[in-house]
Amino acid sequence: MNGAVLSDLSIRVAEKRYPGAVEPAIAGLAFDLPARQFCCIVGPSGCGKTSLLNILAGLDRAARAEVRFADGSTPAATPIGYMFQTPRLLPWRTVRDNVRVVLDAAAVAAGRAERLLDEMGLGACLDIYPGQLSGGMQRRVALARAFAIEPRLLLLDEPFVSLDQPVAEHLRGMLLDLWQRHPTTVLFVTHDLREAIQLGDRIVFLSRAPSRVILDVTVDLPRPRHAEGSEVDDFRRSLLARHRELLAGVAESVAGEVGATPDPSSMESQLC
Ligand SMILES: Nc1ncnc2c1ncn2[C@@H]1O[C@H](COP(=O)(O)OP(=O)(O)OP(=O)(O)O)[C@@H](O)[C@H]1O
Ligand SMILES: [Mg+2]
Repeated sequence: MNGAVLSDLSIRVAEKRYPGAVEPAIAGLAFDLPARQFCCIVGPSGCGKTSLLNILAGLDRAARAEVRFADGSTPAATPIGYMFQTPRLLPWRTVRDNVRVVLDAAAVAAGRAERLLDEMGLGACLDIYPGQLSGGMQRRVALARAFAIEPRLLLLDEPFVSLDQPVAEHLRGMLLDLWQRHPTTVLFVTHDLREAIQLGDRIVFLSRAPSRVILDVTVDLPRPRHAEGSEVDDFRRSLLARHRELLAGVAESVAGEVGATPDPSSMESQLC
């Protein structure tokens, strides 16, 4: 929980173990989310981030987990938007139909797919196919689809990974605009600490598997924030300085920046 803000979603994963695995992927992971918070999740590769999102989306019924909204509803009974780690657009459907596929008849008739695609700058691409779009444009369609159901919870699994920096930066701006126009609770998985600080109200850091929360940080910087701006960089340096050893094993980018051997005298140069 963050400060005195009321929780809207309680997440308790006692254990997630895949069949045949020696160790659980997740064990004793717990945190709460206030309504409309933008929360980033940062953790090492293979620690269980996607497994966690699958549990939250109600796609994994085998995990020992309890996920509940404040009114008692479960993920299965709640509109949850999910942008998967691998793009899952239907190649045989047009851009418009890739969004319409998640909507009911009333929302289709009201033109919700077209409106969201237009907000994502894709108003001229409604009737073409995903294969005709660039990687960045495909992510925009996937984002429009994730927002289309008016989700109470939006799960984004490394949505901008492997894009060129200017394209990723443009998409981060579009995501924040969408979130401000259509407020919802967001869980955004990333390996990129700068991206997490630029976007999040909060960053939850996960340990290596079996995964649990090892650090929970509020990002109290005013918006809008700029990726290359000094506020984001100062926040990052101060975070790394305060939690150097804890974060060294968490995200590859952080481990590289922090360095393996603790040496406070050289810390500043390593963190630059
Ligand atoms: N379907 C599966 N069957 C068996 N093991 C799995 C399955 N999916 C994931 N795992 C294992 O569970 C652990 C957590 O995987 P998960 O994909 O959730 O990690 P992640 O944090 O999302 O990784 P990445 O950063 O690479 O996306 C890993 O050890 C992975 O190999
Ligand atoms: Mg993953």
